[in-house]
Amino acid sequence: MDKSRLEEIRSRFQEEMQTELDSQAVYELRKRYLDRKAGLVSGLMKGMRDIPAAERAEYGESINRLKDWVVDHLGELEKKAKERELQKRYEQEKIDVTLPGKKIVRGNLHPTTLVRNEMIRVFSGMGFEVYEGTEIETDFYNFTALNTPKDHPARDMQDTFYLSDEFLLRTQTSSGQIHVMEKRKPPIKILSPGKVFRSDDDATHSPMFTQMEGLVVDRGITLCDLQGMLDQFVQKLFGAETKTRLRPSYFPFTEPSVEVDVSCFSCGGTGCKLCKGTGWIEILGAGVVNRKVLENCGICSDEYSGFAFGIGIERVAMLKYGINNIKLLFESDLRVLKQLRG
Ligand code: DAH
Repeated sequence: MDKSRLEEIRSRFQEEMQTELDSQAVYELRKRYLDRKAGLVSGLMKGMRDIPAAERAEYGESINRLKDWVVDHLGELEKKAKERELQKRYEQEKIDVTLPGKKIVRGNLHPTTLVRNEMIRVFSGMGFEVYEGTEIETDFYNFTALNTPKDHPARDMQDTFYLSDEFLLRTQTSSGQIHVMEKRKPPIKILSPGKVFRSDDDATHSPMFTQMEGLVVDRGITLCDLQGMLDQFVQKLFGAETKTRLRPSYFPFTEPSVEVDVSCFSCGGTGCKLCKGTGWIEILGAGVVNRKVLENCGICSDEYSGFAFGIGIERVAMLKYGINNIKLLFESDLRVLKQLRG
């Protein structure tokens, strides 16, 4: 019986299992010894034919013992390889839960939107509803119905983008007043925010900007109601100490017309750079709705009266955030916008 071949395989395996093997190497080792066709141990079985019949049983047993021995060792090697690999993974994938977390970058609303929302919030508290008109308007709604017929000199106050003889890009949200008064009868209390367009372009003017229109129509409305309500508004927006001042002005759709100043919220009225030393900052145009405008919308001007106002939203945002160039509000530069979170 050729026992030497068996011993040779055993000692070869013994040698090969000495080093630290990884799972792949163990897998290859298993193949080399136990593969059904080409394995070294399996190869011994094939030699059975040449063994004399009397010795075959013993020889077969020896091979089986060798096979069991190899199987046991391979199992052991595999277990150790897996443990080492798992350990290595634990070390590599170690997580330090005490490390500071990744900062989540939060977006924020645009300052113009923040100011617009804040205005709507304050006026909603006084019972105003929001009406949003369209940016393309007819000449009638933007001018004529607002007591500014063709050739009226007040048209020069607003450099208009005409789309045709009849259509234009609205120059003011005041057009919303007419739409609302045509559809509804008093009492009316609406806000109309939106984009307006004028051919104007410098540090404080942009060809597109946003306005907020306000309109109140009811019995017995006077200029005092306007000022009382604006006082409330500016105090909520700029602080409880803020005062208003009305200066006579002219708008075709209001009579009398006023320009409204607020006491400077930066210096409190003593005079500074923001208010150019005057203590006051102009923030909006307003007035008592011109009788002709009410009549144009079929509202009896003997029975009803109203007040209206128009505020430039970017202008308020510039004042509130201390911005001196309106372009910064249109350029979407994140370095700027991140500083204006409200
Ligand atoms: N529409 C005017 C403008 O854009 C602002 C304005 C002034 C609106 C007086 C009004 C108002 O409702 O009563 O310059």
